[in-house]
Amino acid sequence: VTVNIGLVLVSYLLGSFPTGYLAARILKGIDIREQGSGSIGATNVLRTLGKGPAIVVLLVDAAKGALAIALAHLAYSFSSTVGLSLATLVTLAGLAAIIGHSWPIWLNFKGGKSVATSLGILLAMSWQVGLATFGVFAVMLAITRIVSFSSIVGAIAVSALMFGFGQPLPYQIFAIAAGIYVIWRHRSNIQRLLAGTEPKIGQKLQTET
Ligand code: G3P
Repeated sequence: VTVNIGLVLVSYLLGSFPTGYLAARILKGIDIREQGSGSIGATNVLRTLGKGPAIVVLLVDAAKGALAIALAHLAYSFSSTVGLSLATLVTLAGLAAIIGHSWPIWLNFKGGKSVATSLGILLAMSWQVGLATFGVFAVMLAITRIVSFSSIVGAIAVSALMFGFGQPLPYQIFAIAAGIYVIWRHRSNIQRLLAGTEPKIGQKLQTET
């Protein structure tokens, strides 16, 4: 039980490492939560700081998710008496990392939308599902040039992909829960999409929030 709680806590803390916030503070001395969409994610970093920092933030945020999954494997191998299956442990670590990213204790619980972190988790859970989800996202982005819309379509597709690739039940539950959570985090984007004011990738926001 201690191992389980410790894993969830460490995964949350990993997820809560505020990459985008630190990048904006260090490179420009600004609070990214007061810029563009207010998110600390790579999309808002691209808008606010440019391509290089955005790629770094994307990779680090994805790595946080993958690392949480690696830790779950480690915890499982260390103690076979944890009482939970490996897939359940991985699922718990993944959910904790996602919540950590979008709800960081260091930033008054105002973080990102957990898209990059979820991608890292998916790739570490099942690289086939991770790649396929990224493929859906990339095709949608190529067509629409809107990151939020592409993320939402990816979040919907992930449940079907997890099922389609025959992944364990806990991973399927993860896909549904994380998918709903990520879509819910895009509430303001959905409003802008409906109003026709959501910017394309790299563009500034017309309606600053
Ligand atoms: O990764 C988050 C993306 O889907 C939307 O970001 O900053 O446009 O709200 P943003």
